[in-house]
Amino acid sequence: MTVDNPVCYDREGEIAVIEIDNPPVNALSAAVRQGLSEAMARFDADADARIAVLCCAGRTFIAGADISEFGKPPVPPFLPDVINAIEASEKPVVAALHGTVLGGGLEVALGAHARVAVAGTRMGLPEVTLGLLPGAGGTQRLPRAVGLEAAIDMVTSGRQIGADEALRMNLIDALADGGDPREAGIAHARELLAQGHAGRRLSDAEAPAVDPQVVESWRAKVARSSRGQVAPLRALDTIAKGLALPFAEGLALERRAFMDLMQTPERAAMIHAFFSERRAAQQDDLKGVTPREVNRIGVIGGGTMGQGIAASALSAGLDVTLVERDDAAAAKAAAGIARMQDGAVKRGKLSQADRDTMMADRFRAVTDYQALADADLVIEAVFESMDVKREVFARLGGICRPGAVLATNTSYLDVNEIAAATSRPEDVIGLHFFSPANVMRLLEIVVADRTAPDVVATAFALAKRMGKIGVRSGVCDGFIGNRMLSAYRTAADHMVLDGASPYQVDRAIAGFGFPMGPYQVGDLAGLDIGYATRQRKAATRDARERVPVFADRLAEAGRLGRKTGRGYYIYDEQSPQGRPDPELEPMLDAIRADLGITPRDFTDDEIRSRYMAAMVNEGAKILDEGIAARASDIDVVLLHGYGFPRGKGGPMHWADAQGAAAISADIARYGEEDPYFWQAAPLLTRLAQQGGRFADLGKDAK
Ligand code: CAA
Repeated sequence: MTVDNPVCYDREGEIAVIEIDNPPVNALSAAVRQGLSEAMARFDADADARIAVLCCAGRTFIAGADISEFGKPPVPPFLPDVINAIEASEKPVVAALHGTVLGGGLEVALGAHARVAVAGTRMGLPEVTLGLLPGAGGTQRLPRAVGLEAAIDMVTSGRQIGADEALRMNLIDALADGGDPREAGIAHARELLAQGHAGRRLSDAEAPAVDPQVVESWRAKVARSSRGQVAPLRALDTIAKGLALPFAEGLALERRAFMDLMQTPERAAMIHAFFSERRAAQQDDLKGVTPREVNRIGVIGGGTMGQGIAASALSAGLDVTLVERDDAAAAKAAAGIARMQDGAVKRGKLSQADRDTMMADRFRAVTDYQALADADLVIEAVFESMDVKREVFARLGGICRPGAVLATNTSYLDVNEIAAATSRPEDVIGLHFFSPANVMRLLEIVVADRTAPDVVATAFALAKRMGKIGVRSGVCDGFIGNRMLSAYRTAADHMVLDGASPYQVDRAIAGFGFPMGPYQVGDLAGLDIGYATRQRKAATRDARERVPVFADRLAEAGRLGRKTGRGYYIYDEQSPQGRPDPELEPMLDAIRADLGITPRDFTDDEIRSRYMAAMVNEGAKILDEGIAARASDIDVVLLHGYGFPRGKGGPMHWADAQGAAAISADIARYGEEDPYFWQAAPLLTRLAQQGGRFADLGKDAK
């Protein structure tokens, strides 16, 4: 192997070993494709080699195409040709798999004549999660290996499967005893040689029969789960149509579909999301800063949030002490956490034995704060009140050992004020988890004025360890996510005041690709939360601000959403997901009449435009104030905390696709009716004037 050639060719007796070494994930860059082609040519010409093992150095077999090359002019050799050359070889090639064998990586493996995996290997075709479909034979070879329905399932969902399942499905031929893929490949190659077995070419295998009824039932299922995305249905069609054709024509059909999808805005948005998620952890000011060591964490408060945080920390291998106010509450929290871990056992994510030792050795629920004396990091998840939080932090400052990180899970309170309650504000940071915290991947890392850099670095390290995506936010009411939510929710409320039905708003927003509209979300979260916030802010509210009187009326009538069976919707046995309430519209009409509003109609498009304009405008303010460092961080927050459709990349990416000028013009128009709410962010105005993009600002420009 040379510096320019990441593919190495050597021999162990009659076995050629072709090893790819392209850190970090052995992606199929142009250099890897070139190196693989050359290695295959060498193997074919090598008279002393009877069989080849294809394996990878480092943490994983090929994890896919090199995504950073997408959207740029393609450079030969092209992957389908490289794979066809592997498959066409007259001598067998064994793919030896480890780590995450994804996308083009699995397609390479399917082009080999045999596949062996070490334990723990995961395999998948995640292309649909990038707005694409497998474009190097995956839609045609996979069904020939595993059958029609298993292939449709893997390709349209992007789901990863483990090595055991892969063996049962015939995706691999053998599961190795040891953990070294090179050794596993060589051992398997020796066996094949000994048996005189040449493996098989999937292109020669008979295609499974395509039953139109089966395809139709999958179409309905995929249409439901993919919520408007193009790639999953196109992938389904490509499998079904391609299998009816000779193999080479199926491949050509697949390639055309792949190239079409490559041109879609959905593909650009999803790849933006992929890189934005990884960029969020990159913090220039933390280079060279060593995070503090965290092994033992404390969680204060055992409500839903505290339980979720504790469960998630336990799953990450941390030792957890949970503090509640009395024995009954501590026992209830412990039971809740145990239930979450039981769920993980049922889903096959955790073994019963690991669950039992985790709960016995690494978890305790207590009532005495003193138990937190040797914790490395404490997360407070108590009632959302400044007085309560300040009291907790004042106590923690005295109890926790020097150097322990003191974190608050507040979702909107001022972290500077909380930090000021301790004698050690440099140790204080906001860690805003999203509910349910053992499921949701977003973590807002709220950095206060005096937070020490190594505390910020510790928070990012903890996020990674817990499998979360940490996004940095400055201090403001609601931080990045809830501040944005408040803005677009307000835009929705104004439309309802002016005549739109909450049900129409929800439908229009679901039509954009959100899983739920704002009123369904409100019912789920509980209408008492917004009500309490409005009460808290009432005394200082600007007289020009329009109040959603209807939301107050619902809360005052005890209609708090799902938990009371009634909010904007009615929830009962007949409609557990909620159905419109016939009493709501008359109530809204009466309120509008009281306020002297003549209701008007809104089109779904107008609802979406206003909702999105409010979201983008607030995002621009958040960027301008430095609360978020880059537009892509805002996108990650909305994608992972608020159900923003991944196929649109996040609000700031979406705004760039529309153009700042168009959104700015909308805001100017809306501002003629309500100049108080619709104040254009100066940054948005600037971008509109200059034809600029959010993606090119500051750190995103790199
Ligand atoms: N191309 C380019 N870079 C990639 C990459 C890829 N396919 N996969 C990962 N990377 C980069 C990441 O951007 C990251 O870079 P930085 O360190 O600079 O941020 C680095 O590799 C490590 O990645 P992660 O932080 O994600 O590491 P992880 O251990 O948490 O996860 C992984 C590893 C499971 C492989 C994950 O990175 C992943 O899911 N990657 C994408 C896999 C994928 O979608 N493959 C299909 C590509 S499409 C395709 O193959 C189509 C085709 O037809 C050929």
